[in-house]
Amino acid sequence: MESKKSAPEALSPSLLADEIAELKKEKNAVIMAHYYQRDEVKEIADFIGDSLALARKAAQTDADVIVMCGVHFMGETAKILCPDRTVLIPDPEAGCSLADSCDPEEFGKFVAEHPDHTVISYVNTSAAVKALTDIVVTSGNARKIVESLPADEKIIFGPDHNLGEYINSVTGRRMLLWNGACHVHDRFSLEGIARLKKEHPGAKVLVHPECRRPLQIIADKVGSTAALLDFARADEAKEYIVVTESGILFDMQRECPEKTFIPAPAEDTECQCNECDYMKMITLRKLRDCLRDGKPEIHVDPEVARKALRPIERMLELS
Ligand code: 13P
Ligand code: SF4
Repeated sequence: MESKKSAPEALSPSLLADEIAELKKEKNAVIMAHYYQRDEVKEIADFIGDSLALARKAAQTDADVIVMCGVHFMGETAKILCPDRTVLIPDPEAGCSLADSCDPEEFGKFVAEHPDHTVISYVNTSAAVKALTDIVVTSGNARKIVESLPADEKIIFGPDHNLGEYINSVTGRRMLLWNGACHVHDRFSLEGIARLKKEHPGAKVLVHPECRRPLQIIADKVGSTAALLDFARADEAKEYIVVTESGILFDMQRECPEKTFIPAPAEDTECQCNECDYMKMITLRKLRDCLRDGKPEIHVDPEVARKALRPIERMLELS
């Protein structure tokens, strides 16, 4: 057995949390966490939110250091909005399969083939893809932003095909869709949810729009992580089947202790597909190390950042 004194690994979560609190004060840092983060990381975060709320908060902060407990594109968005701040990410390998499904060079060709189209990109993209974009959206504001454009506007939407189909269905638009997907949301199973519905006939089904179309159709509510949480808070049902990354269940349970939240199973039950392995790369230990050492830091090429800023600002103006 390891002695308590032997290694920093032996530190308990509460000692790590104390160290993080000290370092945060010393560095004038703010800790931001996405809903899909580990529970212990969210417990010590200054701010928890969906992608839209994290971008808004980053734009407003007066902290010198932003620690983004989320995935890489969230850190990039914060850095583009706050180029004079230090933006840290506890694990730079925390990527996003959806962002990876949109190669900037390929996307650039697609855009060039449709010169009369407005380019809308989901926030889950690299800075290089945002730099090719007219307006960035999140799942929390995509509908509103698309509806703010003239009805006959030709639109390219990327990279999430499922979200694009959802927005087309609710707005009646016919946006051209890039064929990207998230490895977590694209694998939820209609069969598994039907089985759960039989076991819990009164349960309402909450679905993130990155899930496939059949799941969107059977949902009682389709929305971003924050919208699903708001719905659960305001709604009167007692049970919910939650069809998104399972991290959100912690927040739902914390805010609605009297209700039951059931995580939806993924198609491939061998793997923990309802967890985002990228999001879960961030641990308290890595968070402490990154605050202490001032790295890994997010850097964005200044020319790319300059081009990516305007579409992010347009999103913030329009939502
Ligand atoms: P939200 O915009 O709902 O926070 O979703 C981000 C995300 O990565 C979903 O997989
Ligand atoms: Fe990306 Fe999917 Fe993870 Fe969200 S859940 S960060 S879209 S890989």
